[in-house]
Amino acid sequence: MNADLRNKTALITGASSGIGEAVARELARRGCNLVLLARRRDRLDALARELSRPHDGHTPRIIACEADVARDGDIERAVAQAHEAVGPIDIVVANAGISVIGPLMKLSLEDHRRQLETNLFGVLRTFIATRDDLQKQRGCIAVVGSVNGYLTVPSAGSYAISKYAVRAFCDCLRMEVHSLGIAVTHIIPGFIHTEIRQIDREGVYRSERKDPIPTWLQMPAREAAEEIADAIALREAERVLTRHGKLAVFVQQFLPGLLEGILRRAKISGSQR
Ligand SMILES: NC(=O)c1ccc[n+]([C@@H]2O[C@H](COP(=O)([O-])OP(=O)(O)OC[C@H]3O[C@@H](n4cnc5c(N)ncnc54)[C@H](OP(=O)(O)O)[C@@H]3O)[C@@H](O)[C@H]2O)c1
Repeated sequence: MNADLRNKTALITGASSGIGEAVARELARRGCNLVLLARRRDRLDALARELSRPHDGHTPRIIACEADVARDGDIERAVAQAHEAVGPIDIVVANAGISVIGPLMKLSLEDHRRQLETNLFGVLRTFIATRDDLQKQRGCIAVVGSVNGYLTVPSAGSYAISKYAVRAFCDCLRMEVHSLGIAVTHIIPGFIHTEIRQIDREGVYRSERKDPIPTWLQMPAREAAEEIADAIALREAERVLTRHGKLAVFVQQFLPGLLEGILRRAKISGSQR
């Protein structure tokens, strides 16, 4: 168990599935108390019950809070509950996200609004609701961005807009809060095996929907969570997850235009979804 994170309290948004759920499991294993946020209360309650069992001499204190990061006030309410039940928050994992896929020629303003309200304003709401604790505790905020915060591909325009913005937020915040002792960790995943590609544009989970990304290219969420917990413990500025993610970010930084040229030549119209 990593001594650095023992007895810290971590608030995680989007803890009901995928990366957020896996991070909750990993941080509980490392001795953290948890404040779990998402809209699906049943999933959060089941996870909280499971993780509240004693482990390795530590019984984590865990609370589940139904919260929509796209709605004003929900995260503040969760933070107030956390203060009563667990105490101040040391670690924030701003992870909740959706992927509104579709060509820019077809997406509506409402589609973009839904995308940005969750992926961008959700991160901003999470930060604003927790920044006093972060300052008091000299804590860490880990923001889950994406490789699409460095490069976009056809049909990922709206999603990439949200993730480029999140990257700018992290880069600026890191400079501003360095002297306050707050760490800002930008997590940049490539393809991770989760439910994200089974959620449709309207936000409905479709179990019948086939993930277009081959499984061999996807990192298991548990492995991603271990890396995220390490990056938090080491107070790293950035951590890119997956080998293909590292390659894509490298190529985009040092050979800008190469990927765009390839994608243009491949004549991907982006009209598939
Ligand atoms: N999987 C990948 O390949 C990949 C790659 C790059 C980046 N990412 C990023 O990783 C993060 C987690 O995604 P995931 O892959 O783990 O997807 P996932 O399995 O679909 O999980 C998404 C989580 O976000 C929550 N969420 C969505 N909208 C919310 C809202 N309005 N309020 C509160 N919670 C909300 C969902 O919970 P409820 O529905 O219960 O609210 C769920 O817990 C996202 O930011 C995503 O952009 C994922």
